[in-house]
Amino acid sequence: MNPLNHVAIIMDGNGRWGLKYRNSRNAGHKAGLNTVEKIIKETIKHKIKFLTLYAFSTENWKRPKKEINYLFNLLETFLLKRIEDLHKQNIKLKIIGIKNFSTKLNKLLKLAEKKTSKNTRLHINLALNYGSKFELINAFKILSKKKNKVNEKNFVKYLQTK
Ligand code: FPP
Repeated sequence: MNPLNHVAIIMDGNGRWGLKYRNSRNAGHKAGLNTVEKIIKETIKHKIKFLTLYAFSTENWKRPKKEINYLFNLLETFLLKRIEDLHKQNIKLKIIGIKNFSTKLNKLLKLAEKKTSKNTRLHINLALNYGSKFELINAFKILSKKKNKVNEKNFVKYLQTK
């Protein structure tokens, strides 16, 4: 077992790379996804158990609609093409963040999670529509509905279950 158990990557700089080397931000996103494939291979090779990819934050919705559409088409195509193979490789895919995308993509994401839920070789957390502010507010809202008071102890306990 590799003592390095979990690698987390913020997928930043794709757009800038694309503009500099391919004259297009979208080309950078495509290249970024190819890099993700390489990273998955390397994580498996090095027997790392968890890979978290911070792919699309709540802030990212401020981007031009064209770029957002391109990104989500890229993600849909990736899932349709690759999920069977990821499953065969015993890889588990979990989406972290709020799944409120198109009906088609929500279904696809849930299907991919369900299909791969029992896999054990590598666990990939794909962070989509995530934001720390939102997560914290949501955690407080949930806890405040519970009978016990919101305090540091149960707040930390709640976050550990996420
Ligand atoms: C950040 O680069 C990257 C993203 C916002 C998306 C990366 C995700 C993928 C390529 C995977 C497929 C798509 C989705 C929706 C998960 P940037 O554009 O912020 O780069 P910059 O900092 O150079 O502008």
